[in-house]
Amino acid sequence: MKALILAGGSGTRLRPITHTRAKQLVPVANTPILFRGIQAMVEAGITDIGVVVGDTAAEMRAAIGDGSQFGPGVTATYIEQEAPLGLAHGVLIAREFLGDDDFVMYLGDNMLEQGLVGFVDAFEGARSSANPPSAQILLKQVSDPQRFGIAVLDDEGHVTTLVEKPEVPPSNYALVGVYLFDASIHEAVASIEPSDRGELEITDAIQWLIDHDLRVRTEILTGWWIDTGKLTPLLEANRLILETIESRIDGSVDAASFLDGRVIVETGAEIVNSTIRGPVAIGARTRIVDSFIGPFSAIGADCEVVHSEIEHSVVMDSSKVIEIPRLEDSLIGSDAVVSRSKRKPRALRLMVGDHCRIDIE
Ligand code: TTP
Repeated sequence: MKALILAGGSGTRLRPITHTRAKQLVPVANTPILFRGIQAMVEAGITDIGVVVGDTAAEMRAAIGDGSQFGPGVTATYIEQEAPLGLAHGVLIAREFLGDDDFVMYLGDNMLEQGLVGFVDAFEGARSSANPPSAQILLKQVSDPQRFGIAVLDDEGHVTTLVEKPEVPPSNYALVGVYLFDASIHEAVASIEPSDRGELEITDAIQWLIDHDLRVRTEILTGWWIDTGKLTPLLEANRLILETIESRIDGSVDAASFLDGRVIVETGAEIVNSTIRGPVAIGARTRIVDSFIGPFSAIGADCEVVHSEIEHSVVMDSSKVIEIPRLEDSLIGSDAVVSRSKRKPRALRLMVGDHCRIDIE
């Protein structure tokens, strides 16, 4: 079995971060979102990984490399998509890489609590049955089905219809961003037409399978699932992952500092006269001085936090937070500076990029 990760797209909902960075590489608990997806695939025994990339191709190549960092025998093959023309378009252009193998397709900005082992095993088991499925989708009941691809099931739990972001949702079963296919999906993606929004929709391709009497299995997801493409779900994913960390102190903590709960302090990091209340992750070589870092915060590598309080936030690498009395629910990009100076007149002095959001107390 192979894997196809979709890591192109435009990431409009996470601007301005995505002006300069692929949304799939935004860190959650100091690890890029996409790396967790790749790790889950490797755990499920899949080592031949195709990555569909768009404008951020160079950044993806730099981060993932040849794939070997994820385990012995893991290889990454890059497939360039000229524009985000849809998830099914990603399958279409990966035809040569995929060959006739079964594969798992994974949306690079999705995060799942549970791994992929059970899901992949279930498909492989069903594939050797008398009535093998051609595809398997993963569903989760949601309260806002208008935002997702939605599946309608019959009384026996078989999929009858799929609709993309319906105005009037026929069910509340959303398609989670993990799909399994056999080679029949290639005819499907080559047969469908672009939707009204100009994309080749994977829901239309799966509908094509159903309409051609091919079986589509479903599994209902029990753990959490987050489509991290926006700020609030991203902070939620950060919180959920931090809830699972184990304490590890590889950096230095001075005698005037106090660590409470589960805290990771990476190598070379320094905690000086500060209180850290976990779960919190502090990246390598970061300095926390005279500050409070509260629960569900992830501070990246090479940062400096001085005389400040931060809670429930993600601060990416090489940023500075200086003299800020309270920062909450925030996402700070890399190489950013948030500071308070004593300069007169007392005023807010901002250099704000496009699509930023600033919320003053
Ligand atoms: P989406 O989040 O649905 O789309 P997007 O990345 O364009 O984001 P936004 O709506 O904020 O503009 O995409 C899901 C995943 O699939 C994501 O990792 C990007 C990837 N993708 C591709 O690789 N190619 C595509 O053509 C599309 C539409 C998405």
